Amino acid sequence: MNDNLHTLRCFGCGARISGPEARPDFRCADCGDLFEVEYPGWVTRQSQTRPNPGALKWLWRERRCSGEALDRSGVWRFRELLPILDNFGNAVTLGEGNTELYALPRAGRALGLDQLYAKHQGMNPTGSFKDTGMTAALSVARERGFEWVACASTGNTSAAMAAYAARAGMRSLVLIPEGKIAWGKLSQAMDYGAVTCQLKTDFDGCLKVLLEIVREAPIYLLNSMNPYRLEGQKTPALEIAEAFDWNVPDHLIVPGGNLANSSALGKGFKEMKELGLVARVPKISVIQAEGANPLVRYLNDGAGTEGEKEFKAVEANTRATAIRIGNPASWKKAARVVEETGGWCLDVSEAEIALAKAEIGLEGIGCEPASAVTLAGLKKLRAQGAVAESDRVVLVLTGHTLKDADYTIDFHRGMLLRPEEAAGHEAAIDGLRRNARVVDATPPAVLAAMKDVPA
Ligand code: F0G
Repeated sequence: MNDNLHTLRCFGCGARISGPEARPDFRCADCGDLFEVEYPGWVTRQSQTRPNPGALKWLWRERRCSGEALDRSGVWRFRELLPILDNFGNAVTLGEGNTELYALPRAGRALGLDQLYAKHQGMNPTGSFKDTGMTAALSVARERGFEWVACASTGNTSAAMAAYAARAGMRSLVLIPEGKIAWGKLSQAMDYGAVTCQLKTDFDGCLKVLLEIVREAPIYLLNSMNPYRLEGQKTPALEIAEAFDWNVPDHLIVPGGNLANSSALGKGFKEMKELGLVARVPKISVIQAEGANPLVRYLNDGAGTEGEKEFKAVEANTRATAIRIGNPASWKKAARVVEETGGWCLDVSEAEIALAKAEIGLEGIGCEPASAVTLAGLKKLRAQGAVAESDRVVLVLTGHTLKDADYTIDFHRGMLLRPEEAAGHEAAIDGLRRNARVVDATPPAVLAAMKDVPA
């Protein structure tokens, strides 16, 4: 099971190739679709020679107490489920994963749910879920001898890539949309030494330029079309199952941008079930911003039968800049995860995102705007009756609140939303705003300030 015996299988036509045969853009030479990592050994093994799920669970838990960097990583401690390297000594790790699964009692109570949790992937080394995917794919780049790695990004991928490349002593190239990423993320790419180019286009435009570059130059693409990214990003599914003693939650709610994360988590749960580690998979729902909702349109608005549905890119616009993506690469994989698990796909407004973010903040953990779509989406699912009172629900929070402090400050100062965006939500917004005020430097003035704020 430790052998590197993976193949890449085209998600569209099913063609199989070996890892090193992949083209620089990770698209199938026959049909142009994306690949998925597959481990043929898992299927062909006789049931009696399959790894014992009980033994694996024990081993993975024991590794958390080990002194070895690889064992302590929340990605590589599950390495039996991602044998993508010839030599695990090539793994580049910053101690990613093993993130906290927080209970959200206030938000749960407000929704009439007893069991609401947040898997906080913003608690990774560079502050987002991208670290779990980056440790996997960048390690492959190192093992294959690349000097340069590159990505187009709305910010978090570039921060993660730049950090892991720096750790590995590799060079990195970042293409980001000018003026459309949060400062926290841009500062990380600079600090970790990436060559950072701000292009006068959006994320989709940046990716287009990068794909032309990697076809010409020996640069390893680390966008999520790279299927190894998803192998790392599936490990939070294992951690969630482990945290509930291998009983999976009823619902998993994930933000949708380029749509790789929902695909990866779905793959993680599916593989766990196939290997007998869990008995079932959760319903996986994907939530997008109203202004960047191509999957919602495809799955919900598509008239007619399955065969007639057509995926259409949109011009993306949302203040949740991390998910400001109109033409997501992994839409087909994510659509399959939603459909196969019986989940939902819906969108939420700018005001709903801002409110949900402030509510998560009041739980004492915070998150970035793109992560807050999960709670906003859950409110809608609950109102529709799609989530029952007794259901166990996990929201995947993808980024740390400090990634985009400007958004938070604008919200609390009342400068975030235009009046027409806030319409109908004014009272809720006022109840959540906690603007800092200027107070005289005297004890009575400070004590007075403490009196007139909501509890
Ligand atoms: N949440 C955050 C904080 C993100 O940074 C992203 C994507 C997503 C959600 C959506 O995940 O793309 O897998 O559906 N950020 C990318 C980037 C695109 O470049 O950092 P997805």
